[in-house]
Amino acid sequence: MNIIHKLGLDLGERSYPIYIGSDLLGQAELIRPHLHGSSALIVSNTSVAPLYLARVQQALEACDIRQDHLTLEDGEQFKTMASIESIIDLLLRQRHDRRCTVIALGGGVVGDVAGFAASIYQRGVNFIQMPTTLLSQVDSSVGGKTGVNHPLGKNMIGSFYQPQCVIADISSFATLPARELSAGLAEVIKYGLIYDAEFFTWLEQNMDGLMAGDTDLLAQAVLVSCQIKARVVEQDEREAGLRAILNLGHTFGHAIETVMGYGNWLHGEAVAAGMVMAIDLSIRQGWIEDSVRQRSIALLQRAALPVEPPAEISSEQFLDAMAVDKKAVDGKIKLVLLRKLGEAFVTGDYGHELLLQTLSA
Ligand code: NAD
Ligand code: GLY
Repeated sequence: MNIIHKLGLDLGERSYPIYIGSDLLGQAELIRPHLHGSSALIVSNTSVAPLYLARVQQALEACDIRQDHLTLEDGEQFKTMASIESIIDLLLRQRHDRRCTVIALGGGVVGDVAGFAASIYQRGVNFIQMPTTLLSQVDSSVGGKTGVNHPLGKNMIGSFYQPQCVIADISSFATLPARELSAGLAEVIKYGLIYDAEFFTWLEQNMDGLMAGDTDLLAQAVLVSCQIKARVVEQDEREAGLRAILNLGHTFGHAIETVMGYGNWLHGEAVAAGMVMAIDLSIRQGWIEDSVRQRSIALLQRAALPVEPPAEISSEQFLDAMAVDKKAVDGKIKLVLLRKLGEAFVTGDYGHELLLQTLSA
């Protein structure tokens, strides 16, 4: 085991550590302090279980804890209430009591689904995140948002529910498809855009190494991303205001995911195109220089990410899908826009005509 970084997310009695390192999955001594009760359920999927389930099972054996596992179908289209029911069915059939621990082993889909199930089973049981994609390590496993999709809108059913710990094993990137690494880099780039211009510059300097899978650089990118996410969540756990900046590009991106059909565009790809749209609108508003767009497009392209939405989505389809966004209040769509590179804010105060220009550009 090699813990490269350990950081904390400070939420009072709901505080927890985030471990970032190599060969962490399967380390009993890391998991043991965060288990409660005498039983655990590992939730994974058909792609991740053959790769990593045995390691986690061995660790639980060493912790002397009764364990079950559930392997979900792989894909965003299985981020559904049906998957929640299958987890709860198993927990009940195997008589896991309210002191059991649910462990999410996989990417953001598994984490969101398992976390939501943990949050509602017997009104909430212990939960551990073991994220295995870059995107889930830098974003979805940290901060306690859990949930599933509805056919009419992404992430429309869910809860805020913090894990006991996050174990982010960067060794798992060895098996991650290149397209998924890129999707994770979209969220990493997001942190530079919304919060930390220096980190954006660091990414410009190191993108080639990150794309080549350099583990030191990847560990550093995960660390800085988690630090930024933790600082934002600490200030606004339940998204009363500030936390919404973490959704730069997501209102446009969720619309792309919904209209194109869940799973066709990866979440990170949709966010990448959506961030360029948010930057475009910020420029039209006169808030930022065109150089921010040029630098962002260049960086996203070096990360092999799309920088425009699919041509077949009309402005009407965008507006329709965006209206379902959780930030919409009384029918008014709020957007995360940029005040400058490294500083985002949430606003409903943008020109509708300018938004239409962005959508049709
Ligand atoms: P994902 O969970 O679908 O994983 C991507 C693919 O990689 C899947 O096919 C998965 O089986 C596979 N995989 C995972 N780890 C692997 C590994 N180590 N080796 C080989 N294959 C591996 O997608 P994701 O990008 O991790 O997460 C996207 C999801 O996260 C979306 O549903 C999104 O809405 C959600 N999300 C949630 C939050 C939050 O705060 N809760 C934040 C961002 C995104
Ligand atoms: N991914 C956005 C959030 O956690 O708030």
